[in-house]
Amino acid sequence: MSSNFLLYGANGYTGTLIARLAVRQGLRPILAGRNSEKLQPLATSLGLEHRAFSLEDESTVDAALNDVTAVLHCAGPFSRTSKPMVEGCLRTKTHYLDITGEVAVFEAIAAKDAEATKAGVMLLPGVGFDVVPSDCLAAHLKRQLPSATSLSLAFTAGQTSRGTATTIVEAQKQGGLVRRGGVLTPVPTAWKTRTIDFGEGPVLGTTLPWGDVSTAFYSTGIPNIEVYMATPPSTYWALVASRYLGWLLGSPPMQSLQKRLIQAQPPGPTDAQRQQGKTRLWGEVSDDGATKVSRLQCPEGYTLTALTALAIVTKVLAGQVSVGFQTPSKVYGADLILEIEGVERLDINNG
Ligand SMILES: NC(=O)c1ccc[n+]([C@@H]2O[C@H](COP(=O)([O-])OP(=O)(O)OC[C@H]3O[C@@H](n4cnc5c(N)ncnc54)[C@H](OP(=O)(O)O)[C@@H]3O)[C@@H](O)[C@H]2O)c1
Repeated sequence: MSSNFLLYGANGYTGTLIARLAVRQGLRPILAGRNSEKLQPLATSLGLEHRAFSLEDESTVDAALNDVTAVLHCAGPFSRTSKPMVEGCLRTKTHYLDITGEVAVFEAIAAKDAEATKAGVMLLPGVGFDVVPSDCLAAHLKRQLPSATSLSLAFTAGQTSRGTATTIVEAQKQGGLVRRGGVLTPVPTAWKTRTIDFGEGPVLGTTLPWGDVSTAFYSTGIPNIEVYMATPPSTYWALVASRYLGWLLGSPPMQSLQKRLIQAQPPGPTDAQRQQGKTRLWGEVSDDGATKVSRLQCPEGYTLTALTALAIVTKVLAGQVSVGFQTPSKVYGADLILEIEGVERLDINNG
């Protein structure tokens, strides 16, 4: 087996960013996806091998994975694409990485832990913006307050890609989600708000079912977890309105209308927008008496996704793996995020 990785969904917005950065870093991924016509120009321009195959046929998936060490899966929504790729990885003993942020996908992969351990395979979903920085922040806070019983995480979001917007549209029906007593617990969309200082003054944060509601529990064991996104008041009120329109937004005609509108948008932030952009994260842990707060400042979200995903791929190719279902901080530690250029962490009033 060659010590190489297969990048599936390489022709998508994020997959292409990752392919380009990989080449700049001296990596030689095999580019893959379901459409040869879309893959070939990218593979030719980067001088890389490509493999076109659908996820619908087990034997073609197995044949494509048989000679690689790892897959970096970038074709989403992962609620539709993750299962066949995970199963292919288990059959062919290939380590699985993806860039999902979808709670249901994390939970479905966590349920494969025993199978992955038996196969000697690492299943590590969430190697992008969601969840590497927030997962590392959660683990950093937990080591400062090991008795913590509550964790709140928050992030600022920039412009989204078409693929992210499509994934959000498909998730509209699910409502909100938090962890209570270790259990994933449904709550209304935009259930709670709080004022959060990411380092530039207080802003409104609104709860959302971000991936850490699933993963931070596996990383820290903290039983009560909420995740907030910085939201202008107009976005908050739109989210509240969507509580009552969920049935309509989730209906097939409204889903296809929203997806058509998304396809009319640019594929994602431009290079200039990514270079200028920053993301900020905030986390707080508490027990009965103490509270600890830390913040992170990071590059723009899609740039960060490419950087964290490739940092992890490089470790996997060097043999740094832990078999079974994993989270980024469980395998590589809370300080993994500090290995990424442009990331700064600040502890606030944690004396
Ligand atoms: N967690 C994070 O931080 C993070 C960061 C970035 C992106 N993402 C997620 O990553 C996904 C991709 O984002 P993007 O911006 O790259 O989107 P995109 O530009 O729309 O690309 C989507 C890619 O997925 C492929 N695809 C979709 N459905 C497929 C299926 N059923 N079988 C095989 N391939 C399929 C597409 O192939 P075709 O071109 O053939 O349709 C394309 O290559 C989204 O779910 C997004 O939410 C997450």
